[in-house]
Amino acid sequence: MEILTVENYDEMSAEAANIIAQLLRLKQNAVLGLATGSTPEGLYACLVKMYEEKEIDFEKVTCFNLDEYAGLSPDHPQSYHYYMDRHLFSKVNVKKGNINIPRCGVENIETACRDYDKKIHQSGGIDLQLLGLGLNGHIGFNEPADYLQKDTHLVNLSRETIEANSRFFPTEDDVPRQAITMGVGSIMSAARIMLLASGEKKADAVKQMTCGKVSTHHPASLLQLHRNVLVIIDKEAARLI
Ligand code: F6R
Repeated sequence: MEILTVENYDEMSAEAANIIAQLLRLKQNAVLGLATGSTPEGLYACLVKMYEEKEIDFEKVTCFNLDEYAGLSPDHPQSYHYYMDRHLFSKVNVKKGNINIPRCGVENIETACRDYDKKIHQSGGIDLQLLGLGLNGHIGFNEPADYLQKDTHLVNLSRETIEANSRFFPTEDDVPRQAITMGVGSIMSAARIMLLASGEKKADAVKQMTCGKVSTHHPASLLQLHRNVLVIIDKEAARLI
């Protein structure tokens, strides 16, 4: 696990954007695994700027998002479909047909999950998987538990996650209780993983992820077992390591 500590959120975002830009220059048809949440907003803004300045091109890029809330339609302002459209997809030339985000409003969620993993596999696999870090160590929505699921699946969100994500909703009661997430197997199959974390609140989770025991009770610690992980954190998130 390589750890790059930078001064602040803006530097973290710029470093991460440079790494994605390098990949897109080397491989025009790269497959990107993408995340949502507060952490990658700055990164997406940098990518949009690079695209506008004709430094990068998304025409042949394929994207797979990590997760989506159950019960929110794609046009709900808090859905991850809406988030991705707002921060990236509507602002660059990625083709609609190359955008993949787990769908929850489907009749057979199990089949939809299987198809999602199949599609990742058929695309040739994810070249670079972007991750944020939950306060409880979750990656995607793989919550701390005795056992973790390998493939894309429906998950019950933990109390901590519901509480942490209530900042995006009018009240905590409005936060969906379930989501579809790529499993840890799907995440760990990516050729390269880039995890971003910023702010003092993430310091403990960063410590457990980088120096703690590998445990399903801290899903991000499993990243210690991956061959090609880059963690980009700011000074505050790195405070305990
Ligand atoms: C989002 C995701 C989550 C977030 C994590 C951190 O697609 O998979 O694991 O990355 O909850 O969220 P923020 O960045 O809002 O602190």
